[in-house]
Amino acid sequence: MANLSVDYMGMNLKNPIIVGSSGLSKNAGGIQKIQAAGAGAVVLKTLFEVGIAAESDKLEEGFQQGDAHTEAHDLIHDMHYQYSLSAYADLIKQAKADTEIPIIASINCYKPEVWLEFTKMVDKAGADGIEINLSYFKNSVKASAQEVEDEQMEIVKNVISNTKLPVAVKIGPYYSSMANFVQRLSFNGAKAIVLFNRFYKVDLDLEKLDFSAGQRFSSSTEMSSALRWVGLMSGEVKAELIGSTGIKTGEDVVKMILAGAQAVQVCSAFYENGISYMSTLLKGMNDWMDENGFDSIDLLRARLSEKKLKGQKFWGRHQYIKSITGID
Ligand SMILES: Cc1cc2nc3c(=O)[nH]c(=O)nc-3n(C[C@H](O)[C@H](O)[C@H](O)COP(=O)(O)O)c2cc1C
Repeated sequence: MANLSVDYMGMNLKNPIIVGSSGLSKNAGGIQKIQAAGAGAVVLKTLFEVGIAAESDKLEEGFQQGDAHTEAHDLIHDMHYQYSLSAYADLIKQAKADTEIPIIASINCYKPEVWLEFTKMVDKAGADGIEINLSYFKNSVKASAQEVEDEQMEIVKNVISNTKLPVAVKIGPYYSSMANFVQRLSFNGAKAIVLFNRFYKVDLDLEKLDFSAGQRFSSSTEMSSALRWVGLMSGEVKAELIGSTGIKTGEDVVKMILAGAQAVQVCSAFYENGISYMSTLLKGMNDWMDENGFDSIDLLRARLSEKKLKGQKFWGRHQYIKSITGID
């Protein structure tokens, strides 16, 4: 049996498989199942500021028929906001009381003051870490890449300077200069960077001529982008890198670690196969390590990162140029 334990943001995990933020970790029962399945850690379902606002609007619809009343509106929104914050704090407390694995809270807001309020609530409730879910969809033609990134960096700096907890930042795959952005996150104090979030996919229903949801779960072909960026950034930044999206097998976890990931986050594979699939992932990792003579994760990590490949420039290849890739 190989030693699968890893350090993550100053915590010791018994293995590198973290269950990513999702409905799987939205309540105490789900979190207990995640621990029982053998996860290294869990990220709670994100507390979304926008989600609270939408729920408040629905509640308000239920109360009001006819005239909209501004004071009633404010009251309902305020009560629901306070309720949602305290329900999330209770979830953290309950998870901490029920389980021994690290509990990482996840937050996503749009107003700067709400980021701070959520941060303080998570800190006070006793989570082991915070994950900033930096999903941020700006589709204004007026916002330059620099402005958007600077705005995001301010959020990260503000959260970090207002908590004693270690902070991970989970980002999407769309940045013009990924390497620079990842480096800035690390420089500004992110202890870990999760590469990448997989955002809600949109599609169209041609029968109903209406909007519809796209592919809910990732496929294994989607892993390549995260693998590439972990391979490129490993050793370039102080922050730990967490590989995520499209990880479906124990061998996929091994690949992420070989590229340089400190740990991984998995979500779709558990929705598709049940949380007990954790044991298949762990066995797959173990078997590969045994067969290949590795008895600890630390011996594997970053062996195939760009830095270790000493100038072979493998991870940066992205065009099918026959003389370089052998494929045309
Ligand atoms: C149903 C569902 C709900 C999710 N909810 C969240 C969320 O609340 N916060 C978040 O940061 N990511 C959320 N995610 C994204 C996952 O945490 C993960 O980053 C993504 O699915 C990629 O990993 P995977 O390929 O293993 O699924 C969700 C994913 C799914 C499928």
